[in-house]
Amino acid sequence: MYNSYSPQLNIAANTAVLAGKSIMRFYSRLENLKVMSKGFNDYVSEADQESEKIITESLIKSYPKYKITAEESGSNDIVSEYEWYIDPLDGTTNFIHGIPQFAVSIGLCKNKVPILGVVYDPFKNELFCAEKGKGALMNDKKIRVANCSSLKSAVLGTGIPYRKKDHSGVYIETLRTLMDARCGSIRRLGAAALDLAYVASGRLDGFWEFNLKPWDIAAGSIIVSEAGGHISDIKNTDGYFDSGNVLAANLSLHQSIINELQENLL
Ligand code: IPD
Ligand code: CA
Ligand code: CA
Repeated sequence: MYNSYSPQLNIAANTAVLAGKSIMRFYSRLENLKVMSKGFNDYVSEADQESEKIITESLIKSYPKYKITAEESGSNDIVSEYEWYIDPLDGTTNFIHGIPQFAVSIGLCKNKVPILGVVYDPFKNELFCAEKGKGALMNDKKIRVANCSSLKSAVLGTGIPYRKKDHSGVYIETLRTLMDARCGSIRRLGAAALDLAYVASGRLDGFWEFNLKPWDIAAGSIIVSEAGGHISDIKNTDGYFDSGNVLAANLSLHQSIINELQENLL
């Protein structure tokens, strides 16, 4: 499909589209969808499970020696420098409520560093992908982060903590700081992998969220950096993959946000 990209990228992209077709079959008959609770405010549906089955079977068939970490089934026992991170349905809460903002996310890391990723929105048929050193695409077009450098005109995406109380205090402080700085506007769209893809394509000027998981971030983070953006921990360190506390934007806006946060709360 993408000639100048690796077979791994092409397989991940085809697999994400296949999984997306399955997700849309469930979406067309939501009233029959079986939903199970995994914990407080944490749900899994048969659409998540079926999507994950399609993805893991396809990736294992093509790359039997790569490690896999998938949201619903966890990690396999394989030891490899290569590891797939799979979110079979990012935005499950949106999905089960019939809100059309959800995606499949597949990222490949080498020694824990993302080297390629795909995020596929099956409702809008938008496929975001990127590979290290090769740039980022949305469907067949190159994408770039927005060039907005002023917080005052920036539209930021965010994720509001709703599962654990741990981060609610510090999260509200970041929200207050950015609101007080007269940030242009703030959106909570509900699918973190897509939020990152939207930063990469300039739809959002920036995005921050706490406590994300590697499968939320692996694909989206490389799509952001290959689209010319900058991604870090909320304290401006590299450790976002481990902490799950993420800030993404173009470099200049990223710095303005970090300055605001450092002056006002960190
Ligand atoms: C969630 C979504 C949501 C974010 C949560 C994630 P899930 O993923 O990305 O936007 O705020 O932190 O866990 O559970 O729908 O795959
Ligand atoms: Ca997710
Ligand atoms: Ca998920």
